Parts: sequence; C-alpha cells; structure tokens
Amino acid sequence: MWSSQSRSTAIRIGDPGYDISSKKHVSFDSGDTNRVRRNSPAVMRVRHKFAKNVSLNESNIDILINNAGVGMCPEWQTKEGYEMTFGTNHLGHFLLTLSLLPLLQKSPKARIITVSSNTHRLAKINFENINLRNGAYSGISAYVQSKLANVLFTRELAKRLGPNSTVHTYVLHPGPIKTDMSRNMANKSQKAIYDTMTSMLYLRPEMGCQTTLYCALEERLDNESGLYYNNCRQDPLWANGTDDKSAERLWNLSCDWVQLEDHLKI
Ligand SMILES: NC(=O)c1ccc[n+]([C@@H]2O[C@H](COP(=O)([O-])OP(=O)(O)OC[C@H]3O[C@@H](n4cnc5c(N)ncnc54)[C@H](OP(=O)(O)O)[C@@H]3O)[C@@H](O)[C@H]2O)c1
Repeated sequence: MWSSQSRSTAIRIGDPGYDISSKKHVSFDSGDTNRVRRNSPAVMRVRHKFAKNVSLNESNIDILINNAGVGMCPEWQTKEGYEMTFGTNHLGHFLLTLSLLPLLQKSPKARIITVSSNTHRLAKINFENINLRNGAYSGISAYVQSKLANVLFTRELAKRLGPNSTVHTYVLHPGPIKTDMSRNMANKSQKAIYDTMTSMLYLRPEMGCQTTLYCALEERLDNESGLYYNNCRQDPLWANGTDDKSAERLWNLSCDWVQLEDHLKI
C-alpha cells in the first residue's frame, strides 16, 4: 500500500516476504515499512485495527495491494468463526479495503489490486455453506472459492464506485510462483511433492510479481476498472467470474459477516 504524500511510506500487508523496492524490474523508494504480521487467527479484527491506525497516520493512499493469502491449510477457523481461507483471502481484504476506501478516495487517482488465481475458474461460491462445514471442506475447495470471491469482489467494487470514480480496481492471476504457499499443508509427503514440483517449474517471485506491478503502475490501465489480468495483460473471465448476481449477494453477505460500519458502506 503506497501513500503519495511523498511515495516514501510503504506499508506492506502480507507480500511474499521480499522487498520489491530492491528488485531490478521496477523500483520504488520504500522508506519506512510497517507490516501486519500474520499468524493472527483474528483476521478481521486485526485488519480493522490496522486500517484505523493507518487512517490516523496517512492523509491518502494511492495503491492498495491485497496480496496476503493462505491455501491448502487444515480445516482451521478464524477467531470470528469463519473458515480460515475464506476469512483471510476474502473477508479480510473486503474489510481492509472498505475501511481504507476513504483514504484512497482522497488521492487524485488510486488503485486497488487484489491477487486472485486462475484456479478461481474451478469454483463456485457455496452460499448455503460458506464455511464448508459438515464434510464439504478440502484445502483446494476452500482456496478456489476464496479466489473466486476476489474476482467477484473486484468487479462489484468497480460497479459500486461507478464510472466517474477516481479509485479503480484490478484483479489478477500472478502465475505459478515458487513461494511459501505450501507452508500450511498438513500432509508432509504432499508438501514435499508440491515443493519439488514448484522448485523445478514455478516462477521466481521477481517474475511472479510482474502482473501485480503491472496492475499497480501501468499508466495505460488508468481508464480500466473491474477487469482481470494474467501475464501482464487483460484476460477474459469465465462465466463464474462474471456472475453479477453472485457478486452482489456475496457483497451484501460480506457486509454482514464483517459487521461493516454503516459509514463505510457503498
Ligand atoms: N504461489 C503461487 O503459485 C500463486 C498462484 C496464484 C495465486 N497466488 C496468490 O498470491 C498471493 C501471495 O501468495 P504467495 O504465493 O506469495 O504465498 P506465501 O509465500 O505463503 O505468502 C503469503 C503471504 O500472505 C501473508 N498472510 C497470510 N495470512 C495473513 C494474514 N492473516 N494477515 C496478513 N498477512 C497474511 C503471509 O504473511 P507472513 O509472511 O507474515 O507469513 C505471506 O506474506 C496469495 O493471494 C495467493 O493466493 C499464488
């Protein structure tokens, strides 16, 4: 998340743990870095508090990147009682974004980028059992549901902000990247296979962050909003990603689930 006061404050929330300011593809002045530590099952309360602290210290925000994510974990719950993957990957981003929207709206132009995955194409939102209880849970089903939620959230946010908004939204697949995504896999042999495969076939993080940076910085995207990107270009969505009724339903339910304060509703 970058504030334009001077481009000197970078506040990172859950990026893959390396400093993009030091990489050669794109460079920033990064200055002070404040970081929200993960490992808090109180996913939503933490982000809410964080957003309040940021609002006290920053006058505006230019770029918010919702990158944090978990996947393939055991059937865990957030402190608030939501399935951990959905709570972290969707509800946390939803709450953080809407809490910070007033600051984003204070910039002459601002971008909200949400890192999804092309695996969202395998998903549907299980509205009747969003926490995938009673045997419906698997690491992959929870992950793809949360990644579809990222796509629907981005489209619905663009729609609600409207065509004249100075805040634009972008959602993307970063590519297959060699990161620490397998950290929560309970099955050690599956983890070993995944890690071996990714170390041979997946992109290094320097390459894997390029579509995220493209969405954050490419000036030609100034007039786009609510679209999906892959490999540094726009990519068409499948039908489940353009299901506007589901997007609206998810939005309204998410407001209730995070108990969004009335003044933050749009
Ligand atoms: N790797 C891939 O092939 C791939 C493919 C498609 C999409 N993606 C997406 O890319 C994004 C980044 O994942 P990654 O591959 O870089 O995985 P990763 O190495 O496991 O990084 C995940 C990041 O999310 C942070 N995080 C997790 N839970 C959090 C919480 N509750 N609050 C704040 N931060 C939290 C972690 O913070 P800590 O460092 O503090 O633990 C870490 O920085 C995710 O949204 C993932 O779905 C990855």
